[in-house]
Amino acid sequence: MHQSLKLVSFFMGSSALVATAACDSKKSEPAKKEQAATQAAEKPVKKKAEITPAMLGLYQPPLATDLVSKEKPVSEAKVNLGRQLYFDKRLSKNHDISCNTCHDLQRYGVDNLAVSPGHRGQPGARNSPSVYNAAGHFVQFWDGRSPHVEHQATQPILNPVEMAHTEESVTAVLKSIPGYQPLFAAAFPDKKDPVTLTNAGDAMGAFESKLITPARWDKFLSGDQNSLSPKEKRGFIAFNEAGCNACHTGTLLGGGTYQKLGAMKPWPNQKDQGRYEVTKKDSDKMIFKVPSLRNITETAPYFHDGSVGSLVEAIQMMGEYQLGKTISEKDAKDIAAWMGTLKGEVPEDYIREPSLPPSGPNTPAADPS
Ligand code: HEC
Ligand code: HEC
Repeated sequence: MHQSLKLVSFFMGSSALVATAACDSKKSEPAKKEQAATQAAEKPVKKKAEITPAMLGLYQPPLATDLVSKEKPVSEAKVNLGRQLYFDKRLSKNHDISCNTCHDLQRYGVDNLAVSPGHRGQPGARNSPSVYNAAGHFVQFWDGRSPHVEHQATQPILNPVEMAHTEESVTAVLKSIPGYQPLFAAAFPDKKDPVTLTNAGDAMGAFESKLITPARWDKFLSGDQNSLSPKEKRGFIAFNEAGCNACHTGTLLGGGTYQKLGAMKPWPNQKDQGRYEVTKKDSDKMIFKVPSLRNITETAPYFHDGSVGSLVEAIQMMGEYQLGKTISEKDAKDIAAWMGTLKGEVPEDYIREPSLPPSGPNTPAADPS
């Protein structure tokens, strides 16, 4: 039995937070001068800021491993089938790419490339985001064009620059592999014809719903004050004071809203207009899903175009373009140190590559065309 978490509680509305973010208190001028006099050549010394329960409230509850798919029921049989499909390269037309190629589960669910090569090495248009914790996002893809992981998982299979199948061709492949028949039947006992693309997506979604990475940060959220170092605590305070939490909030520190990229200053790369590419509505120009910051230290390069390799630089750009603020290098480094506490453990047993059922006599050959 799975406890269905109300995902809604993960993402508190962000409007109330903007106010909190905006009252970034400034030191009075005389106080500043006095400080400058006593601490010559030092950057302004941070007031003794403390982490209050109110500040932590925005990020509650701590991440738990039983976050389940919000869309479909999850069973052991589905998870096991989903794991096999996730690693199966026959889901690509040329039998050379699996989900794990671009979302390597040993590498925090990414490939660490700016954009990923797909069918015949064709480059994709966007950076591959992590599959870890993705099931908890309110929508899938940078532009939110897919509602949930079950549906999402069917899309790369049909994408001509990714796995390059058609629904017919991938279904034919799955049906031709004798070992998959009983696995689909066990995962979808009510279905007369269980081997379908939709069911393959449901099974992979079930598998993804447990790719969850609780981290040191969650210990801190649960009240263990010693789980963060002073530098990491300073970084969290700097993150809050800068106002990053207006968008990166909730358990996943993102994944819950759309926001404009370039809220305060036009983003340098305007080629990809985000949600506008889907809706063609002017108001959706440069609107992207706010990404989760879970495992962010491991998932470089950053942004939808993978254009920035350094986390410190990404943090400073966010300050400049999203908040109209200069984030000092020291603050950015502290924030990056705090982000290290969002790095969880990959579930080694759960993600171990399974053996796959062998192809049958009728399995179509790899097709490089
Ligand atoms: C060739 C590389 C490639 C392959 C293969 C691939 N993906 Fe992706 N994946 C991407 C890219 C790139 C995106 C972002 C695309 C976008 O937002 O338009 C993405 C997005 C996603 C997302 C959304 C995450 C988020 O934060 O919104 C999930 C989940 C995902 N992929 C799972 C899968 C699964 C499951 C498979 C196998 C069926 C798969 N991917 C195959 C490259 C790939
Ligand atoms: C107004 C909303 C907003 C604010 C405020 C904001 N961000 Fe973001 N952040 C976004 C969006 C939207 C993206 C996705 C950018 C893209 O599509 O390339 C993003 C992306 C990021 C990324 C890259 C994530 C990835 O997976 O590549 C990091 C790191 C980040 N933000 C950190 C911060 C920090 C640190 C702050 C505060 C200085 C901040 N953000 C403030 C909306 C915001």
